[in-house]
Amino acid sequence: MTKGTFPIDKLKGIETPFYYYDMELLKKTLKIVKEETKKYGFIQHYAVKANANRRILEVIATEGFGADCVSGNEVKAAMAAGFPASKIVFAGVGKTDKEINVALDYNIFCFNVESLPELEVINELAAKKGKLAQVALRINPNVDAHTHEYITTGLSENKFGFNMNHLDKVIEKIGTLKNISLIGIHFHIGSQIEDVTTFAPLCARVNELQKFFEERGIQLPHINLGGGLGIDYEDPTAHPISDFVAYFELFHKNLQLRDGQTAHFELGRCIVAQCGALMTKVTYVKEGENKKFAILDAGMTDLIRPALYQAYHKIENISSDLPVQKYDVVGPICESSDTFAKDYELNETKRGDLIALRSAGAYGEIMASQYNCREIPKAYFSDKI
Ligand code: LLP
Repeated sequence: MTKGTFPIDKLKGIETPFYYYDMELLKKTLKIVKEETKKYGFIQHYAVKANANRRILEVIATEGFGADCVSGNEVKAAMAAGFPASKIVFAGVGKTDKEINVALDYNIFCFNVESLPELEVINELAAKKGKLAQVALRINPNVDAHTHEYITTGLSENKFGFNMNHLDKVIEKIGTLKNISLIGIHFHIGSQIEDVTTFAPLCARVNELQKFFEERGIQLPHINLGGGLGIDYEDPTAHPISDFVAYFELFHKNLQLRDGQTAHFELGRCIVAQCGALMTKVTYVKEGENKKFAILDAGMTDLIRPALYQAYHKIENISSDLPVQKYDVVGPICESSDTFAKDYELNETKRGDLIALRSAGAYGEIMASQYNCREIPKAYFSDKI
């Protein structure tokens, strides 16, 4: 497997750890998503939760994407970066009054609503402002995403969305809420889904539900299929861009959209993951009992995915072409889970080598914490260093 290409002369003088974003790859990815969605008239709302770095958001907004937000602050960040309110959707099981009011004040496109009490609160707050809030019902489709249990969301045991058996009650309730306008249904089955055929049962469920709503005299102009398309963490250099052609084609072939109906998507990871790397230096190489530790200056506070989900990120020593040796690659945090990989083959490593943790553009920088009073890593961009 070949290593990624990094402008090492420019990067080695920067204080580590930091996030490095390949803006050319981001723009290439956005171009392909735009082309593929345009083919079918699909609308893409970038899932801000994957990476809310201001510069990244601005580039995505400039390309004409909408935004999928899950907090009031994400709505504010999306607005500040230039996403139009008319392309912002807002999901989440626990939207507070304050967050709902922020979104109402901006007149966002749609609330993806997850419970009856939330519907009532949005109605009440919209009434106070004399507004009509557009909502889509997030429905839990009970479709298995075949992914890590922590990032599976579409099973009936998960906390997300309305249970399909409760929909009659919900429709009845909506009929009584004067400041709510039902414009669609919303789904999201999970994340890091590598096999696109996993989305076929979701399409089948949507087709069934379309009939359910039509039988009750309800036409829904918008169908939101969520996000979830995975990326290749094993070999990001060989596969820097996910198979968007197959992904959107699957929905085009399997979804029975009605005339005038629009399909929306909320991809996050596959838009930004591969363009980002966490750059870190080796502080020490330590001899253990029958093993060597490469101790990095980045830790779980900078990239928590390995500690939290046992996630794999490819690690490259970009300073060394020496023969490989095995290392446990660890961070400096006082937790045993602060381990990026065990028995990992790196080109022979010494103190000061620059290491890249690949595929870290999604759920990397945004999930950083200050545990141990550490600083949040800075970000640098390929076109501005
Ligand atoms: N829409 C909704 C309603 C979601 O909950 C999510 C992700 C997305 C869209 C975007 O999904 P994506 O296209 O990025 O798979 N922190 C975890 C991932 C959590 C995903 C949460 N929801 C990780 O690092 O793997």
